[in-house]
Amino acid sequence: MDATLDTELADGAAVGREISDGTRTLPVILVREGGQVRAYLNSCPHAGVRLDWRPDDFRDYTGHYLLCAMHGALFEPSTGHCLAGPCRGARLVALGSVADSATELVIRDVEKLPSSALFRR
Ligand code: FES
Repeated sequence: MDATLDTELADGAAVGREISDGTRTLPVILVREGGQVRAYLNSCPHAGVRLDWRPDDFRDYTGHYLLCAMHGALFEPSTGHCLAGPCRGARLVALGSVADSATELVIRDVEKLPSSALFRR
């Protein structure tokens, strides 16, 4: 199952959206870096909460890393790898491949998300 989002992402943008895998509604982070879009479950590996403290606010003060607003974990946007903070060495859960055009993104194989992925509202 694929999820299609009517979303345009400028280079460097990181936004939050919700998608469905057929049974669950899942919050995701979409990041465009260097022309490539990546999608991660919006769930911090430390405590399972969403990273953003307000909508579409995922970047740290440098504008380079993704920041978990709860306890300050920093993530590399191109890999989801946690570089600093209480879950250092862990990773954001990456969603399947993302195909993008000028006006829409298609996240492939959404149903393959691990059921054990942490998620709390
Ligand atoms: S919940 Fe994200 S760093 Fe603690």
